[in-house]
Amino acid sequence: MNGVSLREQSIVIIGFMGVGKTTIGKAVAKRLYRDFIDIDEEIEKKYNMSTSDIFKKYGEKTFREKEKEVILNFCNKKLKIISLGGGAFLQDEIKDTCLSKCIVLSLDLSWESWEERINLIVDSRPVLQGKNSEEIKELFYKRQPLYEDHHSKIKTDNLDIEEVADYITDALKTAWDIYEPNT
Ligand code: S3P
Repeated sequence: MNGVSLREQSIVIIGFMGVGKTTIGKAVAKRLYRDFIDIDEEIEKKYNMSTSDIFKKYGEKTFREKEKEVILNFCNKKLKIISLGGGAFLQDEIKDTCLSKCIVLSLDLSWESWEERINLIVDSRPVLQGKNSEEIKELFYKRQPLYEDHHSKIKTDNLDIEEVADYITDALKTAWDIYEPNT
């Protein structure tokens, strides 16, 4: 326990690139009247350039270091909805801190559904650039174990953004009432 009530703990959203962490995070934040934080956007603001340009200019290692610094900072704040980049849980310190200080929700989308979005995703994701669809599929499956460390997993196939956001909001309210009644 970290002394922060369950109702006040920040909510962290994890999942592979392009599963909808940002869009769904924003919709949940609106429903719960909380601030929404997109970690990639925070990093981009610090460098005043896109993630792709940060990768190109400074390399992935620098991006990952900044990613860790930014996430650890936000994990210590209350009442936020925080969307992580899909590679954040590659770093154990990020994973352990998120799991101990925040409520971690994992968005799960099947490869078949994800593949339909590939063209919308590829250009802005440096990790996918130069890979063919077989290699991307391999990365997709290789990354899945990272998204198994969570407090709750939400399968989003065939659901629209509003449905997922409603489901998450209702589930959180139910959990808060069960674990922290009368607060
Ligand atoms: C990455 C995912 C991206 C971004 C960066 C690296 C990854 O975030 O952090 O391009 O390694 O999976 P999204 O998951 O929001 O696309």
